[in-house]
Amino acid sequence: MSLAAIFDDARSYARFRDVPVDPAVLRVIHEHMKWGPTSMNCQPLRIRWMVSAQARQALSECVYEGNRAKVLAAPVCAVLGMDLAFVPTLEKLFPHKKDAVAYYDGKPQLVESTALRNSSLQAAYLLVAARMEGLDCGPMSGFHQAQVDRLCWDGTTVKTNFLCNMGYGDRLEMRERNLRWSFEDVCEVR
Ligand SMILES: Cc1cc2nc3c(=O)[nH]c(=O)nc-3n(C[C@H](O)[C@H](O)[C@H](O)COP(=O)(O)O)c2cc1C
Repeated sequence: MSLAAIFDDARSYARFRDVPVDPAVLRVIHEHMKWGPTSMNCQPLRIRWMVSAQARQALSECVYEGNRAKVLAAPVCAVLGMDLAFVPTLEKLFPHKKDAVAYYDGKPQLVESTALRNSSLQAAYLLVAARMEGLDCGPMSGFHQAQVDRLCWDGTTVKTNFLCNMGYGDRLEMRERNLRWSFEDVCEVR
């Protein structure tokens, strides 16, 4: 699949065709995206794949009104969370750096920014992998944080980063694409 298919021609979807996603596809996507780089290999992303009608109904009640129909229309909504307790896992994930855990000692802001940065990166890898596997995506940050956290991560150290509807998109009533900054607008080569 070409770069143009993944970026230039792909869109963010609000509507999806009534076609289920094979759960095996979700596993394939994860098998590949998991190799994307994170700092000290910390891998803070956690995922709840909301697939059943019951799971998506419950989730739809935790998002902003404008996003409700989108969650219900999508065969899958991935709730993308970040584990704020990733630090002890570094002993296993980055064993050659003996002071990796100590590096975060007493630095809660660093822990949080690291979790946010790396889970966002992993979520982007996930979107690209999903598109490469033929799925369309509809990312969403319009949700009630406490409600989604309670629904998906109750009793854990995970906080929701954002949600992403996935399925086979429908372009009915889709708006024209908005402008993207050009290389000259936002880049400088030094
Ligand atoms: C992190 C993130 C959060 C978003 N939140 C919402 C949302 O809550 N509701 C919505 O309808 N679209 C949401 N979007 C979709 C964006 O508006 C869309 O990706 C952007 O306008 C580009 O559209 P295009 O991919 O069709 O060009 C979100 C996108 C991202 C990446």
